[in-house]
Amino acid sequence: MDKYIIDGGEKLYGEVVAQSAKNTVLPLLAASVLTDEQVKIRGVPTIADVENMMRILTEVGCKIRRQKDCAIIDSANAVSHEIPPRLTKELRSSVFMLGSVLTRFHRAKISYPGGCDIGLRPIDLHLSGLKRLGVEIIEEGGYIECKADKLTGAEILLDFPSVGATENIILAAVKAQGITVIRNAAKEPEIADLQNFLNAMGAKVYGAGGGTIVVEGVRRLHGVDYTPIGDRIEIGTYLIATASCGGEIETSGVPAENIAALLHKLRENGCKIYTKNDKIILRSNGVLKSVDLVETMPFPGFPTDMQAQYSALCTTARGTTLVVENLFETRYKYAGELKRMGADVTVRGRTAVIRGVEKLHGARLTAGDLRGGAALVVAALKAEGRSEVIDLSHIDRGYADFEYKLKKLGAKIRRVRI
Ligand code: EPZ
Repeated sequence: MDKYIIDGGEKLYGEVVAQSAKNTVLPLLAASVLTDEQVKIRGVPTIADVENMMRILTEVGCKIRRQKDCAIIDSANAVSHEIPPRLTKELRSSVFMLGSVLTRFHRAKISYPGGCDIGLRPIDLHLSGLKRLGVEIIEEGGYIECKADKLTGAEILLDFPSVGATENIILAAVKAQGITVIRNAAKEPEIADLQNFLNAMGAKVYGAGGGTIVVEGVRRLHGVDYTPIGDRIEIGTYLIATASCGGEIETSGVPAENIAALLHKLRENGCKIYTKNDKIILRSNGVLKSVDLVETMPFPGFPTDMQAQYSALCTTARGTTLVVENLFETRYKYAGELKRMGADVTVRGRTAVIRGVEKLHGARLTAGDLRGGAALVVAALKAEGRSEVIDLSHIDRGYADFEYKLKKLGAKIRRVRI
C-alpha cells in the first residue's frame, strides 16, 4: 500500500494538460465491442477504472493492446455475453457494457452492480430504458440476465437525466430496428463525446448535449481512431487546488464551457480566470471569500464530482458556505477527515455547513472514495505542516500521475510505499 506525504503551504504555478476523460473512455471502451474492426482510442489514462474495464473486455474475448498512450481494441473474437461478477464489483461502470453487449450478442449477463462508496447507485432507469427497446430482463440471484432477439427503436423518457442510463440506452439503440428518442437525457459533455465516437463508427446519433437524443439504428459499425475529450473533473481538481493554495496555473484540454459552473464559483471566491478555446488560466492570492451556496446538479449545473474538492477549498475561505449534494446519498465521507485538520464542517444528510477557519493543520488522513480522496489532497496542500494520505487506491481510480502533476506545479508531495 502507498501513501502521500504532503508538506502544505506552497503556492502552485505552472501548466497542466488534461488526461482523456475517465468518464468518456469507459463508455468508449464499452462501445468498442459494437464492431469487429479495430478501434483505437488515444490518450487513454493509466488509471484503475480503465484497467478494470479493459479486463472486462478481455474476459468477453476482445484483444487489447496498449501502444504508448493509445488503447487498440480488436473485438472480432469477442464471444462471451457474460460480464464476470468479480469485475462488476470492482467497476460499477461495467453496467455500461449491458447496452453494447446486448447489441453485439442480443444477450447479456451481469451481476447486480451494488452500491459503492458514494451511494446506492440504482440502475432502474437503465433497465426500464432497455425494456422499452424490447429487452427481456430477468433479475434473480444477484444477476441480471438480458435477452433481445430483436432490438427495436422506441420513445424513452428518463425520470432523471442519468448519465449511465443515457449512455446504455444509446449503446443498445445504435443498431436497433428503427428510431429511438431519449427525452430528459443527460447533457454531460461525455455524452456528446460518445455520440461523436459512435458517429465516427458509422452510427446515426443526434442531439447529445441537449435534453433529447435521437438514435437511428444502422446495420453495421466500422472501426475508428478516436481522441476523447479532456477530463473536466481532473482539470477542475487542479484549478480548485490552485485557487485554494494561491498561485497561477494554465490548464489545457478542457474548454471553459465544460466546467462553467465551477469557474463561476471560483470567480465569486475572488479568483481571476481567463479562458480561450481549451485553455483556462486561473490566478489566486490564496485568500478567498466564501460563496453562500453550492448545490450539485446534473450538467450544466455544479458537478457532483467536484463537490468534495470544492468543499475542501471552502474550509479556509472567509465566511460560511452551504453545500447541498443532490445526486448521491453518501458523498461527505471526507468531512470527518477535514475536521481532523481543524476544519469547521457540519454535515446533516445531504447538506454541509462549512465555516471558514484561519488555517488547517496537517494530519494523517484516510481516503474513502475517489473524489473525497482528491479533496483530502487539496486540503493537505493548503494546510500548515505535514499531512499523510493513505488508501490511495481510490485516487488511483481516476487521476493519472496525480503526484507527478502536482509536484510539477511546486507542491511538496511524495508517494511512498508503507
Ligand atoms: C456518472 O455516474 C459518472 N460515472 C459519475 O462519476 C458521476 O458522478 C455521475 O455520472 C453524475 O454526473 C461515470 O460516468 C463512469 P447517474 P452514473 O446515473 O451514470 C440516480 C466519478 O467520480 N439514478 O447520472 O452512475 C442515481 O441514484 C463518478 O467519476 C437512478 O435513480 O450517474 C443518482 O442519484 C462518480 N437510477 C443520479 O441518478 C438509475 O438507473 C445520478 O446518477 C441511474 C441513476
